[in-house]
Amino acid sequence: MEENTIKKKVMLSGIQPSGDLHLGNYLGAIKNWGVRSEEFDCYYFMADLHTITVRQEPSQLRRRTIEQLAQYIACGLDPEKNTLFIQSHVPEHTQLAWVLECYTMFGELSRMTQFKDKSSKHKDNINCGLFAYPSLMAADILLYQPDYVPVGEDQKQHVEITRNIAERFNGIYGDVFKIPEPYIPKAGARIYGLTTPTDKMSKSVPDGCVFLMDDPDVIARKFKRAVTDSDTENCVRYDKENKPGVANLMNIYSAVTGKTFEEIEKEFEGKGYGVFKPCVGEAVIEALRPIREETNRILADKEYLESVYKDGAERAHRTAFKTLRKVYKKVGFVQP
Ligand code: TYM
Repeated sequence: MEENTIKKKVMLSGIQPSGDLHLGNYLGAIKNWGVRSEEFDCYYFMADLHTITVRQEPSQLRRRTIEQLAQYIACGLDPEKNTLFIQSHVPEHTQLAWVLECYTMFGELSRMTQFKDKSSKHKDNINCGLFAYPSLMAADILLYQPDYVPVGEDQKQHVEITRNIAERFNGIYGDVFKIPEPYIPKAGARIYGLTTPTDKMSKSVPDGCVFLMDDPDVIARKFKRAVTDSDTENCVRYDKENKPGVANLMNIYSAVTGKTFEEIEKEFEGKGYGVFKPCVGEAVIEALRPIREETNRILADKEYLESVYKDGAERAHRTAFKTLRKVYKKVGFVQP
């Protein structure tokens, strides 16, 4: 009885369905989401509103959004225990984003790494949405008053600006928002591309990117071709600075097997990269196999998926609405 009255801590995160999910998304984010479903009140969504800051092909965006939901479930997120929803189905996200944009400074947005990156990659489309993106992300987060936001390292800056915006708002209006903490995994926080081990793994370099739905032989090939280092040592040793390719593979192997770097060094002592690379590939294939199979099974049941995202949107809306109502009241809008 008493248990029911204790308010659970809240966790929230999202992924943009702007590309097919890859190993970086899995190890940096989703893998850590399901672990705490019992302990936390969890909200996970498909951040479709964010994707249109870069042009999307509409039918592909639709396909990827649904596939991403199936993948969330296949990765172990039980829709009964986690609120799974599509961001654009909960209008409070854009409503709060507008308010927060008025409490976000031009200077802070100009300093965002993701804005600098994307605006240099899409010079012909540096739109206002791309610039104001962190205010929408702050709204995504603050609406649900989460304690933790589990993300990969590249999103830490966005969680930090969210904290700054929330503190600024609270400084004016009192304690409206809970100040969330980023929750970053020890292994897998930053997975680098297999062909470009100094850049984060991303769909924009498909040869070096392992997608969750890749066939096992495709994954094996990608790992065989992974760039190791030009040192003559040919030895599996963790040295991020001088051997970034090997360090990245060790990090992946560690994240999927749970082995420490020392254990991995010992396992491959006296064996070169030619043995190590296919072993990492094999471990990844085995980790992803059940996810791929389960995703395909769930994807075949469109009615079920529809019921999950409808129910998720309703539950998300109930929480989001309360926060938005409070914010509107605080800033002085007349209650409808
Ligand atoms: P996105 O869609 O780029 O990435 C989704 C999640 O995957 C992690 N990630 C990685 N982790 C390790 N190595 C990599 N190579 C790698 N690539 C991606 C990201 O850190 C992230 O956790 N703005 C967010 C989406 C978002 C969001 C939110 C997240 C929108 N609203 C609210 C949390 C809370 C984004 O673009 O992530």
